[in-house]
Amino acid sequence: MSRPLAVVVLAAGLGKRTKVSLPKVLLPLCGRTLIDTVLDVVAELHPERTVVVLHHHKERVAKAIAGRSGLQIVDQGEPRGTGHAVQVAMESLIGFEGDVMVVYGDCPLITAPTLRALRDARGEAGASVLTAFADDPTGLGRILRDVNGNIVGIREERDCSPEELEIDEVNAGFYCFASRHLAGALLGLSDDNAQGELYLTDTIAQLVEGPGVTTHTVVDDDEILGVNSLRELALARDVMQERILLEHLGNGVIIEDPSTTYIEHGVVIGRDTRILPCTVIRTGCVIGEGCEVGPFAHLRLGTRLEDGAEIGNFVEVKKSTIGRGSKAKHLAYLGDATIGAQVNVGCGTITANYDGKHKHQTVVEDGAFIGSGTVLVAPVTVGAKATTGAGAIVTRGRDVPPGEVWVGVPARAMRKKER
Ligand code: UD1
Ligand code: CA
Repeated sequence: MSRPLAVVVLAAGLGKRTKVSLPKVLLPLCGRTLIDTVLDVVAELHPERTVVVLHHHKERVAKAIAGRSGLQIVDQGEPRGTGHAVQVAMESLIGFEGDVMVVYGDCPLITAPTLRALRDARGEAGASVLTAFADDPTGLGRILRDVNGNIVGIREERDCSPEELEIDEVNAGFYCFASRHLAGALLGLSDDNAQGELYLTDTIAQLVEGPGVTTHTVVDDDEILGVNSLRELALARDVMQERILLEHLGNGVIIEDPSTTYIEHGVVIGRDTRILPCTVIRTGCVIGEGCEVGPFAHLRLGTRLEDGAEIGNFVEVKKSTIGRGSKAKHLAYLGDATIGAQVNVGCGTITANYDGKHKHQTVVEDGAFIGSGTVLVAPVTVGAKATTGAGAIVTRGRDVPPGEVWVGVPARAMRKKER
């Protein structure tokens, strides 16, 4: 497709229906916010321009997406409807000629292939609209068609007649417009409707007369789920979680019980790794091949498991690397640690990484044996093939030299005859 593309993302609404103080588009979905999830899909289309329309909680939302390049943020002012939001966005697209795709920031399950198909569906028409056949169309705009089956408009639910409410084809909330036809149609919007708003959806009836409008219908109606309430957020999370798990299963990751396994977006897992039940793996973890994680393990941001590492029940790992073949099988906390290869981390081991002000590093070198219940007070290093005895407290900076055996509280080298 040679036409340039601009995408307008609408996220100025208050999100009243969620009943929480967090801005709706900052609600979390498997390790990303709703808006990040949408912006990631948009980025897959490589648009020339991306305009994000904000207003309520503008500073917070803008800060949350500040790390992304190429976004233009505009303030809608007091939101007066989706049509008004696009009118404002178009002010920063003056002179832009091409496709303008409009997406809503609260519909995080859409996929790039569907958006590409929507764009292709426009052809030479003035606009294309993504539609779906919903089991429960409640709350969604209905697609109006004439006797020949051509789209003639979109009616918001609150403006529908009883007959129109029976229509099960709904507006998914994604559109691709020819920029100049969109600009023209936006001029003709009125707020003469049940909500007194300028509806973007009213541009469609206008464009039908003239350049014409086409539709593309989604195959999988999960893709159009909009998050207006926490209940819908939970539904969206289930769908997203299933997608993530299916992808890992397809890559040869053995997930014993997908129904109790939580793996966020953006986790890399090698083949032949086994994920056992009730395990939580947060975004940003990298797990090698042939590892075992769980049951009841919690891997947090910055965890790296090298091939063959094993993390067992009630073990939490954060910002740590666990070397090849190393094991921490029971009841441990490993934070800000670099654990070498073939290390045994005994039951109940803790890296005391936080002194109340700063986080400190723990290093355990290859082949070390950390006895049960050891506390490693960081910063500290346990040398290669060294051993700590059960219950040892290795105090900060008191590094255990390679090959030595340290025991006690505070830990000290064990003399030969004590061994
Ligand atoms: C909208 C559609 C409806 C469609 C549904 C799909 C309209 C008029 N209705 O309804 O046909 O079936 O989505 O999910 O478009 N927003 C702004 N500024 C505004 C108003 C809204 O930026 O002035 C943003 C909101 O933050 C939200 C998105 O636009 O991200 C959609 O608005 P929302 O109020 O959720 O529309 P729906 O009632 O869901
Ligand atoms: Ca919505």
